[in-house]
Amino acid sequence: LRRGAVEPDLTGKRVLISAGGTREAIDPVRFIGNHSSGRQGYALARTAAARGADVTVVAANVGLPDPAGVHLVRVGSAVELAEAVEAERAGADAVVMTAAVADFRPVNSAASKIKKSGTAPAPIELVENPDILAGLVVSREREGTAQTIVGFAAETDDVIANGRAKLARKGCDLLVVNQVGGGKAFGTDDNKATVLGADGTVVDVPTGPKEDLADRVWDLVAERLPG
Ligand code: CTP
Ligand code: CA
Repeated sequence: LRRGAVEPDLTGKRVLISAGGTREAIDPVRFIGNHSSGRQGYALARTAAARGADVTVVAANVGLPDPAGVHLVRVGSAVELAEAVEAERAGADAVVMTAAVADFRPVNSAASKIKKSGTAPAPIELVENPDILAGLVVSREREGTAQTIVGFAAETDDVIANGRAKLARKGCDLLVVNQVGGGKAFGTDDNKATVLGADGTVVDVPTGPKEDLADRVWDLVAERLPG
């Protein structure tokens, strides 16, 4: 159930959201990917737009209808996502990274489709992708700008302890921690989460539509925006 009247409390604010999941090419027809649907990112985009924000979404392989009234940039791989975020981050009051970014990519993507040869295939050598969220924090510190930076983490066990450690490691302001596994979160409309703040705050968001979690995230972001 949505609330009644929507407060345009993000009017004049620019927000950047990454959504979906990256795909790392193995050859022209195959990739390493993940199950992220983009639903949580698009819910954040719709709710921010409804609250008056100027919204840009960097969407990695999202197969959902485009959210209305937002600037949409489509990408495929983690490196493309990193480049798009780098191009769009300046002037954003808040950046929310919901995208599931592949941690590793194949060192080489074959130019032609890999064929069976009758012998065991060569192993796929991997290299680590840039950490986009941590990079946003480094850029903010370097530039001395006020930007609220939010990460998302899916954890299967020790959800809060893992989340706290990850928040500290990334240096972001808020980390939204989802419990996954057993059919939770990926590709579903409902999501249960705990939002950890760098200031030590813990906000539990009960199971409900991804729109409700999105609105709670924007509430917490709005509290942290200057002015
Ligand atoms: N993230 C990112 N760039 C990466 C990996 C992750 O920006 N290369 C962002 C995600 O968008 C998310 C947050 O970091 O907002 C947490 O992602 P997660 O995969 O949980 O963190 P990792 O540091 O990759 O840790 P893990 O080893 O648990 O996967
Ligand atoms: Ca990861």
